[in-house]
Amino acid sequence: DRRIKIAPSILAADFASFGAECEAIEAQGADWVHVDVMDGHFVPNITFGPAMCAAIRPHIRGVMDVHLMIAPVDPYIDAFAQAGADVITAHVEAGPHTHRTLQAIRAAGARAGIALNPGTPAAAVEPLLDLADLVCVMTVNPGFGGQKFIDQTAKIRALRAMIGDRPIHIEIDGGVDPATAPLVAQAGADVLVAGSAVFRGGSAAEPQAYGDNIRAI
Ligand code: DX5
Ligand code: ZN
Repeated sequence: DRRIKIAPSILAADFASFGAECEAIEAQGADWVHVDVMDGHFVPNITFGPAMCAAIRPHIRGVMDVHLMIAPVDPYIDAFAQAGADVITAHVEAGPHTHRTLQAIRAAGARAGIALNPGTPAAAVEPLLDLADLVCVMTVNPGFGGQKFIDQTAKIRALRAMIGDRPIHIEIDGGVDPATAPLVAQAGADVLVAGSAVFRGGSAAEPQAYGDNIRAI
């Protein structure tokens, strides 16, 4: 399914109302719900863990897309799979055994994603593609929402060519808004994560702005 899918990141939602926020964005047309897990070690920020994912799972009908910005990854894979993650994405920079990590994600029953920071070349994931269902190209340095988009279109094109006809999503994460979305979609991305561009100006109680923002992307 190469149709463009919008995955709002709840990092930009109201932290006191995650269940209602997830329901609001889905009702307003979100395709996936993107959940940013940060450990204060791999990235300089701390968010939430598997218990929070389990708590919001009943409030999400579609795909729960869990982006792990943590190191190490392997000790936590089963916990996120049991929390109901449909996609679990680990960073290629997070450790020396990403091949094992992707195998473990699939063995736990989730779809496996591999993420690359802006400073990491496409070639870093080439040997992993047969184990991956998704490649996440970071268009900011991970850790915070609301950062400025970093152009990675050459890397996206290289990955799309490398992937060929394999059924692997290319997801873009960071600084996606109505101005940058067409650039990455044209380069070959099909899942667009957007935090601040979706949640700005809305609330779970008045979710119409979320729908307007999603359609504008
Ligand atoms: C960054 C996170 C992103 C972030 C995107 O570390 O992985 O998912 O929430 O936020 P925006 O869309 O505001 O750049
Ligand atoms: Zn993310």
